Amino acid sequence: MPWTKDRLESVVRERLDGLKVVVVANREPYVHTYDGDAIRCLRPASGLTTALDPVMRVCGGTWVAHGSGNADQAVVDERDRVAVPPECPSYTLRRVWLTKAEEQGYYYGFANEALWPLCHIAYTRPKFDRADWVQYVEVNRKFADAVLDEVGDEPALVFIQDYHFAMLPRMLKNARDDLVVAQFWHIPWPNRETFRVCPWQDEILDGLLGNDLLAFHIQYHCNNFLNTVDRSLESKVDMEHFSVTRGGRTTLVRPHPISIAPELVAAALPADVAPEAMRFRRRLRLGSVPLLIGVDRVDYTKGIPERFAAVDRLLTLYPELRGTFTFVQVGAPSRVHIPAYRHLNEDIARQVDEINWRHGQLTWRPIVLLNEHFDAGQVALLYRIAAGCVVSSLHDGMNLVAKEFIAARDDCLGTLVLSPFTGAARELTDAILVNPYAVDEFAEALRLALTMPPEEQERRMRRMRAQIADNNIYRWAGMLLSEAGKLAGARQPVGEPV
Ligand code: G6P
Repeated sequence: MPWTKDRLESVVRERLDGLKVVVVANREPYVHTYDGDAIRCLRPASGLTTALDPVMRVCGGTWVAHGSGNADQAVVDERDRVAVPPECPSYTLRRVWLTKAEEQGYYYGFANEALWPLCHIAYTRPKFDRADWVQYVEVNRKFADAVLDEVGDEPALVFIQDYHFAMLPRMLKNARDDLVVAQFWHIPWPNRETFRVCPWQDEILDGLLGNDLLAFHIQYHCNNFLNTVDRSLESKVDMEHFSVTRGGRTTLVRPHPISIAPELVAAALPADVAPEAMRFRRRLRLGSVPLLIGVDRVDYTKGIPERFAAVDRLLTLYPELRGTFTFVQVGAPSRVHIPAYRHLNEDIARQVDEINWRHGQLTWRPIVLLNEHFDAGQVALLYRIAAGCVVSSLHDGMNLVAKEFIAARDDCLGTLVLSPFTGAARELTDAILVNPYAVDEFAEALRLALTMPPEEQERRMRRMRAQIADNNIYRWAGMLLSEAGKLAGARQPVGEPV
């Protein structure tokens, strides 16, 4: 039986048995900002929020997040809450306010300058600063207070997201031992040798072992986590059942590969693709050449310079390809207060300029860089009209752009060029898999993406569409929440819920 919204809804009803669901994520799913006097509601560029919003629409409950929009305070009630989505409210967003110093230390500092590079191993050195660490712990405490306020005296399942909250599970358990606490770590977990350079590794591991259930995308990251704990903390690690027992309490460690809601991507497509495509091409002076596309936050883990280097190499090896295709890169600005991100933006702009100068002709540019935020409709259109989509992460927990691209291809055409260093590569084996560090192979993979016969494209695309139709976000949430529900003492037998 396929996983749908309705099936997830019945699983939540039956398996969670009245437990209140509270999701905690740093990033909010809806951001309110001023546009002159008017207030606009935007959806941020984040795989995490894209994946979880459809789940929350089904589960109801509360999402606790940092209120980061400049109009966020203007729309909340006296308890800092607002009902979302704005067009058909189905769950509550509870906003937590952070001071500038907190945001700097916790979000930019410890989460994104220490843990993000530490876990991704993309050759950007992590920065460990005690003041950032102190803010990180304090902000985790602030979120703990908000969660405890939301749950009151009720039984609840608290479902924590990501590396911003390594200390939160233990804090919650210390306050309310009866809460079911589960966490999904959306980014990779490195091997122990890599992790042990973190000066606060013991505190982080102990914090995470406050969870009843800790999930990663793939088994490999679970194993890395278990090995890290085994070699660092006093605890009993059970490699057969994938669990850790410490201080008499057990944490299950499980793989749950995240996904998307394919029908929501398809719904974002324009009713009539051709005229919209024409408008888009005209606006960017793209002519009618085939398009290769990239859609990313501008982040050093995404391998953006590597993919442009491959375009450069392709045009050097095959000069006859000049003028025959264009690479359109949508790069949503991200974390720009961090020097490594600022430098990346500058490097990319310079690189594109050089490549366009080297190979460009009259009005044709090999690379069109759009340093802006595209909404869901614009991204879906781009996916739908591309000859190929390139996902070249140097390391990525999952990568949902790869899955969204497939969901948008109701014509069953188009090729996906995919880095083997993404979680998605484990599932999407019909993609053209290529190591982004290997520039010559990468250039050949781009050539293949541009020249693959339509029958072959269709064969691969059909299989990949079947893959994501089965393994969608409702399945991810259904499996994970019922596993957590079982821990709460729900009575259902083990196995895939009906
Ligand atoms: C990754 C992280 C998410 C994060 C997203 C966007 O997908 O796993 O937690 O929300 O990047 O980054 P940002 O820092 O803008 O929230």
